[in-house]
Amino acid sequence: QELKLNLEQIEKGGYEHFMLKEIYEQPQAIRDTFRGRMRVKEGIIKMAGVDDHIDKFINAKRLVILACGTSWHAGLVAEYIIEELVRIPVEVEYASEFRYRNPVIEKGDIVIAISQSGETADTMAAMKLAKEQGAFVFGVCNVVGSSISREAHAGAYTHAGPEIGVASTKAFTTQITVLTLLGLKIAKAKGKISTSDFHMHLEELNLVPQKVEEALQSNEQAKKIAEVYKDAANFLYLGRGFNFPVALEGALKLKEISYIHAEGYPAAEMKHGPIALIDEQMPVVVIATRRGHYDKIVSNIQEIKSRKGKIIGIVTKGDVTVRDLADYVIEVPEIMDSMSPLLTTIPLQLLSYHIAVMLGKNVDQPRNLAKSVTVE
Ligand code: AGP
Repeated sequence: QELKLNLEQIEKGGYEHFMLKEIYEQPQAIRDTFRGRMRVKEGIIKMAGVDDHIDKFINAKRLVILACGTSWHAGLVAEYIIEELVRIPVEVEYASEFRYRNPVIEKGDIVIAISQSGETADTMAAMKLAKEQGAFVFGVCNVVGSSISREAHAGAYTHAGPEIGVASTKAFTTQITVLTLLGLKIAKAKGKISTSDFHMHLEELNLVPQKVEEALQSNEQAKKIAEVYKDAANFLYLGRGFNFPVALEGALKLKEISYIHAEGYPAAEMKHGPIALIDEQMPVVVIATRRGHYDKIVSNIQEIKSRKGKIIGIVTKGDVTVRDLADYVIEVPEIMDSMSPLLTTIPLQLLSYHIAVMLGKNVDQPRNLAKSVTVE
């Protein structure tokens, strides 16, 4: 028993929980995702699983992404990124719905199955169904040799290293990284992006690990905010554009480890219902980075403020407008809008982590949850 405890201590590498260790591993995990793929100076992205089937990607009429949970959120971010870069429609489906829906798969569709564990039963069943209907299936998995990675026609591993905490953290950011590389690669092969723009994207992506490092410095501020709001019964998370899926992911992180009810919404949807929930008891986390629909988000914040909601803004370094309106802000470095989810996610992971720890919850193994969901 003692030996087992010591081993676990060693595996946690000095961190109190696996989740915290994995949050802090993200700069390295993202670097590992690039390694051998992104060659910034030469201006190329090499991904064997794509290169070997490049004609299929060039001619694809549509991409259909299948996933569950956090991986589904990464798929939503990819929808925004790939549609912008490649200009083909991308649909993101809950694998559990897709598999029972008699879905329409057409010639020229590419299906992307995203799964950290590579063992999620619904994702596996959905991809098999798509395969039977003639789709080319590309897997994005973390666990090497997992069932989904073996079942796919081709794929790309995230190379995030083992993720032990049930709450997915580094798998999410590395999934987004792989899917960004994929989007850039297809856009280049299809001639949808200029060489200079392509280079600019590679250079920006190359700076992400260092910017994630900086975003991690928000830990103390996240802890302070956690202390203030840990006893709230509900939380709202709002974002727009590339950061709408981050709002969903922030809410999921909080729910699963702290058991606090939280909802994520596209900020503009507030007026269609959720705004009725806002009163002085309601903390609202708003992702309000400067490059993403900033003015619109600022007016959403004003709407919350006039209803006495408590505002926690995730803002770009140096922001003053939101700082003046919000109760608290957490800063992340400036970055191209499409890559901002890789940074804005970090403080949300830290916030939910600290709230759960303060509430005495089992952060790494929350009740009722398993790391890989191999049953329906
Ligand atoms: C996220 O924190 C979850 N615990 C869960 O939603 C997870 O992302 C989902 O079950 C999908 O798992 P997978 O990526 O291994 O397929």
